[in-house]
Amino acid sequence: MRGWVGVILVGLAACGGSTDVDAILALEGDVGSGKIIYTSRCSLCHGEQGEGGTTIPLQGSVLPRDEIVSIILAGTTDMQGFRDILSDQEVADLLAHLEDGIL
Ligand code: HEC
Repeated sequence: MRGWVGVILVGLAACGGSTDVDAILALEGDVGSGKIIYTSRCSLCHGEQGEGGTTIPLQGSVLPRDEIVSIILAGTTDMQGFRDILSDQEVADLLAHLEDGIL
């Protein structure tokens, strides 16, 4: 039984949500919406202004914007990926907010 649950979850993960970094970079992000998403999804760990909360700050990150989007989508060892949680537009909004004063 457990095996089947795994198969179903992988199937779901493959369909929904954002997958394409380039498609996201091509969208025009909304700073205001991005701020709301950031506050609810990211600020606990990265701080209200990206100054670092429980983990590394985002301020002063040297990563290029496509890398930032990839990390938001895929996550890291200690950070969940947001691919199945946020839409392409929401990730674009988030990036706009990050570039509007955090990064
Ligand atoms: C549960 C805590 C947590 C949450 C929530 C979280 N992150 Fe992270 N994030 C981390 C940790 C820890 C790292 C450090 C990288 C690692 O895991 O090795 C990181 C790394 C990053 C990096 C790479 C920064 C760099 O310069 O290397 C970016 C960009 C990032 N997070 C963006 C976000 C965004 C945007 C959100 C909200 C959608 C978010 N994170 C939510 C914990 C979190």
